[in-house]
Amino acid sequence: MAQQGSLHGEVYYPSPEVIARARLKDWDALAKRAQEDLEGFWAEEASELEWYQKWERVLDDSQKPFYKWFIGGKVNIVHNCLDRHQTTYRKNKLALIWVGEPGDVRTYSYFALHREVNQFANVLKAMGIRKGDRVTIYMPRIPEIVIAMLACAKIGAIHSVVYGGFSVDALQGRIEDSQSRMVITADGGWMNGKIVELKKTVDEALKRCPSVESVIVVKRTGQEIRMEPGRDYWYHELIKLPVANGHCPTEVMDAEDPLFILYTSGTTGKPKAILHVHGGYMVGVYSTLKYVFDIQDDDRWWCAADPGWITGHSYIVYGPLLLGATSFMYEGAPTYPYPDRWWALIEKYGITILYTAPTAIRGLMRFGESWPNRHDLSSLRLLGTVGEPINPEAWKWYYRVIGKERCPIMDTWWQTETGMFMITPTPVVPLKPGSGTRPFFGQEADILDEQGNPVPVGEEGYLVLKRPWPAMLRTIYGDPERYVKQYWSKYPGLYMTGDSARRDEDGYFWIIGRVDDVIKVSGYRLGTAEIESALVSHPAVAEAAAIGLPHEVKGNAIHAYCLLRAGYTPSEALAEELRQHVAQHLGPIAKPEKIEFVTSLPKTRSGKIMRRVLRARALGMPEGDLSTLEE
Ligand code: WT7
Repeated sequence: MAQQGSLHGEVYYPSPEVIARARLKDWDALAKRAQEDLEGFWAEEASELEWYQKWERVLDDSQKPFYKWFIGGKVNIVHNCLDRHQTTYRKNKLALIWVGEPGDVRTYSYFALHREVNQFANVLKAMGIRKGDRVTIYMPRIPEIVIAMLACAKIGAIHSVVYGGFSVDALQGRIEDSQSRMVITADGGWMNGKIVELKKTVDEALKRCPSVESVIVVKRTGQEIRMEPGRDYWYHELIKLPVANGHCPTEVMDAEDPLFILYTSGTTGKPKAILHVHGGYMVGVYSTLKYVFDIQDDDRWWCAADPGWITGHSYIVYGPLLLGATSFMYEGAPTYPYPDRWWALIEKYGITILYTAPTAIRGLMRFGESWPNRHDLSSLRLLGTVGEPINPEAWKWYYRVIGKERCPIMDTWWQTETGMFMITPTPVVPLKPGSGTRPFFGQEADILDEQGNPVPVGEEGYLVLKRPWPAMLRTIYGDPERYVKQYWSKYPGLYMTGDSARRDEDGYFWIIGRVDDVIKVSGYRLGTAEIESALVSHPAVAEAAAIGLPHEVKGNAIHAYCLLRAGYTPSEALAEELRQHVAQHLGPIAKPEKIEFVTSLPKTRSGKIMRRVLRARALGMPEGDLSTLEE
């Protein structure tokens, strides 16, 4: 990839070998086709999948922003992930290769995965779970999380996966909001050589969740745990019952029927339940994974995210199975027991595509090149990144040390809400380190100022999406008003991403970061409101404000300002206690880097904390317009 051609700045052009192998060679032609006929483009993509009954219309925008896709179509995403492969050679192809942190290995062919999903779906039905019921899944990165999600979808139940790194308050809030009837969990999971005690957290959370009737527990770590008679059941015992035997018919769903909800942090208040549906989500995820990572039959795809986030939903669970691909999944930490664990796994399993986050790259980069250089990484042909902007140094390290200057890096910008990649290259698109390049086929993005006018080239503004797409969120579950307000009100008719960005002279997009009260810590999305409410739940804290400040590995780190109640005095010990308190209640990922005790917080006259001012002060930058600051 030499630097030649007509684009500005530092550009990496795909090699002839990459172009020769790519399924899609002419990006411009397909982009033009999709631009001119959005519905036609998506109809063609949808036709590559199987439908019980074909749709009557591709897009219904008569009730904007409540868009509907593939209206009248009957489908089930699981039919396309599993059932349809059973009558092809893929039946005996590996769907999943899984490695546990302690080194145990399990593999599932499409046949085996289909069989186990059938069994577990039978169990769920026997336990009274019906179409439309919510089921919370709180599990480590083990094959059963995939099986549980697919089993729910197969029978039309709505899964709500809560990331296993969250703690009791986060879990409890999400169970309660979704009114789940069941929780599927494990005794624990392995992370950094230690057991994460998931079942204990579930027990704590369920003290305040009356909607939950039963709990299914996968035995993973094997330590002694409490099982509540009449409520808790072992997974391995249930799937051996006669009722688990035999075929479980895949529920025929309407294209617009709910598939899952996934909670994500937004501006103020509690996390939002983002709702995705069977039809459009399926088509969007299938098409993006096909074009962007160009997965073919001989690939071994590794999306190193957790199934508990949208990245895992779309590109560990559903996307690869829709494509009939072989996926790799690893339970534990990248640095356990040594910082070459990932590189050793790539070598051993012949991984061809690795998709991860900038924070992981930066973290592994710190250990130096000798760790990856000890391994043969020549199986790799494509790399990917997601979750936050990637700094050019990390991009170049990834490109040179891991990809050996052969593997294009797909920097995919998207969100829980978008369900699928939105701004992304494909392997044939010239790359610029740190840019996600251009919108995916059929999409158009813009960068606007406060008034809604496009900003000039090179200037920062609000990133918006201009056209509907099939995997778009349908609503915030249980709160349609908030859906409209949050995403479609600032600029009526346009989808507000919450990110700021700029565009360069070649039309390439550069994401700068969140402009709302969301903090991206190691790529994880956290809300200032959640962190603050965890802090004020401690008896010492009267008021709290959380902000994100730049961090070398994590991208952003949480800094919290606390105002203490009368009778409490600031101390190092109290700061540490508060950090632990947040970790215990919300999750270790939300633990503040630093806690500062203050005697006042900058607020607007209406009492809103001005986090912008706190950030500016911490960074030694101008504090900007203070006209609304309370005296
Ligand atoms: C936010 C969405 C969707 C996958 C994981 C994150 C940031 C995501 C990129 C990227 C720059 C990115 C944005 C976005 N983000 N990908 N390639 N470059 N920023 O999903 O947790 O819903 O977070 O992640 O700020 O708004 P999420």
